[in-house]
Amino acid sequence: MILSIESSCDDSSIALSKISDYEILFHKKISQDSEHSVYGGVVPEIASRLHIIALPKILDSLKKEFDLKKIKAIAITNEPGLSVSLIEGVMMAKALSLSLNIPLIAINHLKGHIYSLFLESSSIFPLSILLLSGGHSLILEAKNHNNIKIIASTLDDSFGEAFDKVAKMLSLGYPGGPIVEQYALNAKQKNIAFPVPLKDSKALSFSFSGLKNAVRLYIDSTANLDKNEVCYAFQNSAIKHITQKCKIYLKNSTIKHFGIVGGASANKALRLKLESICKEFNKEILFAPLEFCSDNAAMIGRCGIEDYKNNDFISQDKLDISPRSRIFK
Ligand code: KG4
Ligand code: ZN
Repeated sequence: MILSIESSCDDSSIALSKISDYEILFHKKISQDSEHSVYGGVVPEIASRLHIIALPKILDSLKKEFDLKKIKAIAITNEPGLSVSLIEGVMMAKALSLSLNIPLIAINHLKGHIYSLFLESSSIFPLSILLLSGGHSLILEAKNHNNIKIIASTLDDSFGEAFDKVAKMLSLGYPGGPIVEQYALNAKQKNIAFPVPLKDSKALSFSFSGLKNAVRLYIDSTANLDKNEVCYAFQNSAIKHITQKCKIYLKNSTIKHFGIVGGASANKALRLKLESICKEFNKEILFAPLEFCSDNAAMIGRCGIEDYKNNDFISQDKLDISPRSRIFK
């Protein structure tokens, strides 16, 4: 068994996975959404202190069901993320590794998200990936487990972050993604048209700051605001932007499989649009189960099994944290 820990942002999560067949034996997550909601975004100091409470609580419940002595390695997210959050998981991983005398495996959080596609199954490579989360909007190409290249990234905000900021502007709470999606579903009026970012550019880049500002200007200058309509129009432009860029990419790609991952990949309107363009370009679309789109330790454990099989361990003194992703070029 591999024990995995995820604490890169505001979710504390621990999982236990079987190395032989990837079965998830245990998975628990404690989210901090309600604690951050009043601030309209994650407060790192609060996130860090809540991990200190949540992680040992989850470990305690795991200990009641499983014998820690049977664990062969600890997979731990060490980048990218909030430093003060990452450090809490890394400290726990180091302590467990010392006390159980088992090796550590360092996992890049973004690579972990890719494995949310293959939680209890074999991986598929080569693979194109659209990763949409709170911190990233990326198109990636993975030749194999250790060869992952960035094809497109964002010039400013990420897709999920834009949802969070629009929700904050409308005082809807945090995280904004699911709330904005629900408001958009309730929209009766659909008369607002926000600009679609970079729509006349062939460049493979994302950008959400212009769209975000357009929403802000509209909110500031409108007296009787229909929040549902604003959410609908914003989501519509954001998804159009993503699909336009994915079309440019897919048209020129020879890779058959296109995986959609990250917290924001739970968005149903987005999924529908991506499904239809994959059909158009004859690509096989892969989604993570809805429950595992957002941050979780099961995907970290699944990724760690690959490293375990390759004997890719890291020593206590080399295991550090980084707010940025260091492994993708
Ligand atoms: O992957 P994730 O859980 O954490 C990061 O690694 O950042 O992604 C969280 C992000 C948040 O910005 C959240 O608002 C967004 O994903 N999100 C959504 C939806 N559900 C979550 N964005 C749009 N639509 C959704 N349904
Ligand atoms: Zn994430």
